[in-house]
Amino acid sequence: MPLRHSFTTSPTRLFLLLSLAYAALSSPHPLIHPRNHHLLQRRNVVAADQLQDTYDFVVVGGGTAGLALASRLSEDANTTVLVIEAGDTGDAALGTIDVPANAYYQSLLSSSSDWAYPVLAQPNLNNRAIVWPRGKVLGGSSAINGMYSVRPSQIEVDAWVDLVAQEDSNAANNWGWNEFLAGMKKSETFVAPSTSIEQTGNIEFDAASHGSSGPLFASYPGYMPSLVGNWTPSLAALGVPESPDAYSGQTWGSFIATSNINPNNWTRSYSRSAYIDSLPYRANLEIVTNSTVTRLIFGNSTTSGNLTATAVEFATDRTATRSTVNVTKEVLLAAGAIGSPHILMHSGVGPSDVLKSAGVAVVSELPGVGQHLQDHVSTELTFNTTAETAGEIHAAGTEGSVPGGTSAFLSFVNSATAYVNITALFGTSAESFQSNVSSALDSSVATLVPSQDASVIAGYKAIYNVSQTLLNSPLGHVEILLSLTAGDIVAIQLALQRPFSQGYLYINSDDPFNYPLIDPRYLSHSADKSLLREAAKFARQLAQMAPLSTQLTGETAPGSAVQSDADWDNWIAQTIGTEFHPSSTCAMLPLNLGGVVDTNLKVYGLSNVRVVDASIFPIQFAAHLMAPVYGLAEQAANIIRAQYNNPPPSSSNSSSSSAPASSASPSAGSQHKSGASISAAFDMPFMSLFTLAALLCSSLIF
Ligand SMILES: Cc1cc2nc3c(=O)[nH]c(=O)nc-3n(C[C@H](O)[C@H](O)[C@H](O)COP(=O)(O)OP(=O)(O)OC[C@H]3O[C@@H](n4cnc5c(N)ncnc54)[C@H](O)[C@@H]3O)c2cc1C
Ligand SMILES: *[C@@H]1O[C@H](CO)[C@@H](O)[C@H](O)[C@H]1NC(C)=O
Ligand SMILES: *[C@@H]1O[C@H](CO)[C@@H](O)[C@H](O)[C@H]1NC(C)=O
Ligand SMILES: *[C@@H]1O[C@H](CO)[C@@H](O)[C@H](O)[C@H]1NC(C)=O
Ligand SMILES: *[C@@H]1O[C@H](CO)[C@@H](O)[C@H](O)[C@H]1NC(C)=O
Ligand SMILES: *[C@@H]1O[C@H](CO)[C@@H](O)[C@H](O)[C@H]1NC(C)=O
Ligand SMILES: *[C@@H]1O[C@H](CO)[C@@H](O)[C@H](O)[C@H]1NC(C)=O
Ligand SMILES: *[C@@H]1O[C@H](CO)[C@@H](O)[C@H](O)[C@H]1NC(C)=O
Ligand SMILES: *[C@@H]1O[C@H](CO)[C@@H](O)[C@H](O)[C@H]1NC(C)=O
Ligand SMILES: *[C@@H]1O[C@H](CO)[C@@H](O)[C@H](O)[C@H]1NC(C)=O
Ligand SMILES: *[C@@H]1O[C@H](CO)[C@@H](O)[C@H](O)[C@H]1NC(C)=O
Ligand SMILES: *[C@@H]1O[C@H](CO)[C@@H](O)[C@H](O)[C@H]1NC(C)=O
Repeated sequence: MPLRHSFTTSPTRLFLLLSLAYAALSSPHPLIHPRNHHLLQRRNVVAADQLQDTYDFVVVGGGTAGLALASRLSEDANTTVLVIEAGDTGDAALGTIDVPANAYYQSLLSSSSDWAYPVLAQPNLNNRAIVWPRGKVLGGSSAINGMYSVRPSQIEVDAWVDLVAQEDSNAANNWGWNEFLAGMKKSETFVAPSTSIEQTGNIEFDAASHGSSGPLFASYPGYMPSLVGNWTPSLAALGVPESPDAYSGQTWGSFIATSNINPNNWTRSYSRSAYIDSLPYRANLEIVTNSTVTRLIFGNSTTSGNLTATAVEFATDRTATRSTVNVTKEVLLAAGAIGSPHILMHSGVGPSDVLKSAGVAVVSELPGVGQHLQDHVSTELTFNTTAETAGEIHAAGTEGSVPGGTSAFLSFVNSATAYVNITALFGTSAESFQSNVSSALDSSVATLVPSQDASVIAGYKAIYNVSQTLLNSPLGHVEILLSLTAGDIVAIQLALQRPFSQGYLYINSDDPFNYPLIDPRYLSHSADKSLLREAAKFARQLAQMAPLSTQLTGETAPGSAVQSDADWDNWIAQTIGTEFHPSSTCAMLPLNLGGVVDTNLKVYGLSNVRVVDASIFPIQFAAHLMAPVYGLAEQAANIIRAQYNNPPPSSSNSSSSSAPASSASPSAGSQHKSGASISAAFDMPFMSLFTLAALLCSSLIF
């Protein structure tokens, strides 16, 4: 990631920060609020030595999908659910997590709430070895991410269903567009922007495309820099029309995205606050934190040839004694695109050559585990500006002077978005580009798959075929974003959405506390380089379009020295990083395409283990991944509850009344005003965290 705008910890800055923290504490708004972890504890978080021996369902990973799923499954009071989360509760970091703009100004990246998985040095990134952040805390990545809420397009979801139709001709019953859309809507309550925010940002929306009674908030910030209003008209001037409604299956063109922000008090709305904190006490739901799942334990007998998981093993750290809990119904892996394949491999489920050389006994051979790894990669151009940016206000410490004051200001997160198709990128060469990609299918299959396994190779081919087919569609193949949070500059970010490069992750030891080897093989396919290069040129052109151009006064990066294709390629290799969207490592695909789960999310060869997280999407979407992960979790809960004859009260769409909490409705939230102590505000090692954030802070937070 480019680290352009690191701040220095000058005494003046420290003073400003301390003043800000103090002002926050002493003011009535809940910017830094008293901890309510006693509530959380009274509710569902239990100590590791107080667990029951046995649960119906054990959810592995209390992240984005895991907490949503646990919340829905435990709506059935006759079902016991345990969530095992490797990270802490997050209580000590709530002052950071809850404030949306802290994703930029006081990020949890590189803190103890971040796994910070190292990625192998990438030849196409100048041999840089980047790090993948992932949330390691209740809420998972939804607790540390950029809050963009963007849905995939129907065309993409249809392509996913087509990929699995060979195995299950009824796949659309679970993952058809209407079903998936219903899941995404069920997760959220939409709140329209205020008239002033709507006008300032030039925001278009259709409330009917959103949910109205779900636990998460989908809304807009309480402060909007005026430059955001220039976004959609400038893209329109470049031939990318504004979308009147990007949430009902046509996610292309430009728009101002919704963000998962609670507009009652301008706090982050994420899986913990939405799906767990809002619940009344549920005796049948328990959550244990600081507990890393080390493996699943299988019984010796099989059910129609499939192994049954009987227990889940976990430990607080590498050297601690391992504990187990027994499972009567199912293990639900929700440990994320890295964690879930990692745990399967340590449980003996995966490619046998990999497991054997790591010293793990093979329980069930499954070549696709850890394969088909795909990610969005991203970089940004930066410009001097005469416009007011959020980063500038923050740096000046004048947050309190914006309309709505500091807490409204600190709800601003970037959300100006565009999905740009190949006509906009390649112009008259679009057809030639597509036919080049299309004719490279066989040679790519022969040379670019990081596995010798025939099924994995066939899966690469099938996914490639989908991506090349979708080039010739209105779908965006790159995403363009406006960032106004990185100081006194404007950044235009670009991100590849549907890569032709695929990587893998492997274990290379029998110790589950060692991280896996992660190799996304970024830009191993030259089409990905071409797409990024044209996207970078497009971003430069966009900066020259009015009305945006009237407030940009010069490109600071990469700058005028970068002109030729070779210049762009060099610059891209030096600057690109992750857009934080790894997926597909436990892909829902037929077995003969290197699949890991079937259309009911069940791991092949196992009778009672499902994966429910970003690892199951077989293709990448032109969208950020959080909204589809919530839709997946909602739909998974429907599927699981249907199997155990306990369907949710009303299963289909957002008019469902099964939202877990009455408090999820956007009525004025009760605000805890008193009782804050200075020491509580410093539960989080505030200064050291700030120092870290200063070193690592980047505007590239999605
Ligand atoms: C910095 C950042 C910014 C992002 N910005 C956006 C954005 O703005 N919009 C968007 O849509 N998406 C964004 N994303 C992506 C999005 O947040 C993720 O794709 C999504 O949250 C993944 O959900 P998940 O349930 O698959 O995994 P996670 O939410 O990561 O949950 C996995 C959970 O499993 C736990 N776990 C892992 N291994 C174990 C183990 N062995 N034992 C026990 N627990 C374990 C983890 O600690 C974690 O809590 C961002 C991601 C990051 C990291
Ligand atoms: C789990 O079940 C086994 C028998 O299948 C039993 O021996 C063991 O004690 C149980 N473990 C716990 C923690 O209850
Ligand atoms: C509760 O679950 C048990 C076992 O899972 C089942 O036998 C019983 O019928 C269920 N009761 C209700 C009211 O659903
Ligand atoms: C969990 O681990 C963190 C350190 O990562 C520690 O600060 C915290 O006290 C632990 N919580 C519990 C309940 O043990
Ligand atoms: C399975 O069999 C092995 C030996 O074959 C034994 O050690 C183990 O305890 C058995 N496990 C269960 C759950 O019965
Ligand atoms: C395993 O279970 C699936 C259904 O989930 C079934 O189709 C399959 O035949 C079973 N047996 C084997 C050996 O996979
Ligand atoms: C397609 O390939 C041809 C031959 O290699 C090349 O000349 C042309 O530039 C390519 N077109 C695009 C748009 O990449
Ligand atoms: C590619 O996908 C199309 C449908 O989109 C299908 O007709 C064709 O057979 C596929 N080709 C390959 C090689 O898989
Ligand atoms: C890309 O979008 C433009 C503008 O809507 C449209 O004219 C063009 O046909 C689209 N390209 C493709 C391949 O669909
Ligand atoms: C951008 O602004 C800085 C600081 O004012 C200045 O030094 C620099 O020359 C400007 N760059 C361009 C390309 O305008
Ligand atoms: C949701 O359900 C209601 C009532 O059954 C129906 O009127 C509405 O059309 C449904 N909406 C969607 C998107 O399916
Ligand atoms: C924000 O409001 C919600 C209700 O919408 C409430 O549950 C939550 O505790 C509030 N958060 C803070 C930090 O006050």
